[in-house]
Amino acid sequence: MKKISFINEKIKKYNKKIYVPGDKSLSIRFVLIASQAIGKSTAYNLLKSEDVMNALKTIKKLGINYRIKKNFCEIDGKGLGGFKFKNNTIINAGNSGTLARLILGLLINSKKKVILKGDKSLSKRDFSRVILPMKKFGQNIDSKNNKLPIGIKGTNYPTPINYIESKASAQVKSCILLAAMKTNGITNIKCIPSRDHTERLYKYLKLPIKIKKEKKFELISFKGTKNYKAFNYTIPGDISSASFFIVLTLLTKNSKILIKNVNVNNSRTGIIDILKKMNGKIKIKNKKIYKGEESADIECKYSPNLKGIKINPKINSRAIDELPLIFCLVCAKAKGVSYAKKLGELRHKEQDRLKFVLKFLKMIGVKVIEKNNNLKIYGNPDLKLKQSYIIKNFMKDHRAFMLACIAALTLGGKKWIIHDKDSIDTSFPNFISLLKNLGAKIH
Ligand code: S3P
Repeated sequence: MKKISFINEKIKKYNKKIYVPGDKSLSIRFVLIASQAIGKSTAYNLLKSEDVMNALKTIKKLGINYRIKKNFCEIDGKGLGGFKFKNNTIINAGNSGTLARLILGLLINSKKKVILKGDKSLSKRDFSRVILPMKKFGQNIDSKNNKLPIGIKGTNYPTPINYIESKASAQVKSCILLAAMKTNGITNIKCIPSRDHTERLYKYLKLPIKIKKEKKFELISFKGTKNYKAFNYTIPGDISSASFFIVLTLLTKNSKILIKNVNVNNSRTGIIDILKKMNGKIKIKNKKIYKGEESADIECKYSPNLKGIKINPKINSRAIDELPLIFCLVCAKAKGVSYAKKLGELRHKEQDRLKFVLKFLKMIGVKVIEKNNNLKIYGNPDLKLKQSYIIKNFMKDHRAFMLACIAALTLGGKKWIIHDKDSIDTSFPNFISLLKNLGAKIH
């Protein structure tokens, strides 16, 4: 496959209806949670991407069978004690932080050693955030500097824990909730709210989870060791994937798009709230509730009067994966200055995404000031690019690749040369073909 994309003209107006692939967070959670159920679970519209394939390969290595059919996937769960594998089994999580962090939770009681590895980008990311709570449960972990690869051996008697999670990380919270399933007692987590797919799935499975919302924190308590039956699930579209098409449409003259059946769980819709406040023309239609998750169609139109925004940092975790796209394109084209604060978590993603945002905005000539992880972006509605741009060396960050394509298709410029096209395989393999379907010229 060709690994570099070339774009040398803006996209022309379009009016289309599209579907984006299944949600990545929900797909990985389905695979891991179904692996612990008793019997055959089935998921329709599971995302078929590298991150999810790595989750499937992981459970297979741990003794759980699965089958991928044309439009569904089946997993033969064997209950909470059902993993069976040889000592020193190697698991490769590839690029997936979610898989690597969540699997630690399921290995809390493993009798044999697992070696957990990842690709170059994942091996640079911090694992202390999950190693710390897992050690409290009694898991044995050897690591160098809290980075992958790590060696993991569980404990026969994982003890429930009380833990304060203050990074607003859904991966940390979910890792703890998965480990807590295998303890004989109540685990309490006091956490800053973050995406809550694991909690919603536990509630749907009637597992004993209680959630109390306080002003700043949420108090979650969960009682372990209850086996649960296999289940069927249909995964809605991923709002993080939809967001590239939302921004493309806001910035493309006279265009309109309807993105069908997208997950609009409130812990994921920060991008909609931010863009609406910036005068983005977005409507949520046909909202439905399905097994504890909300989905809807998102209608979006060209929005010529975008204005700057002061983003309340409370919203950051609800838009964590979309913030770079909003900063680099929407704040850049809006009238006035935009402010965002407390962006430190962006430094812990597939690459340091705050650094990427700064580099990108400077490259396209938009004034930006960063101080202590706070940003000030001086938008320019008349921004017109004339030069050629090369985007490379960004640790194969799929979202950075897609952001650069949307920039090339909306901001213009002579020619954009965007490296690491294959990075989209981690989350959105048909990204380019969907863009071409709207009329984009990408070579
Ligand atoms: C995810 C949580 C977020 C997000 C990631 C997926 C999840 O990470 O950035 O893409 O599925 O739980 P953090 O938990 O590190 O914020």
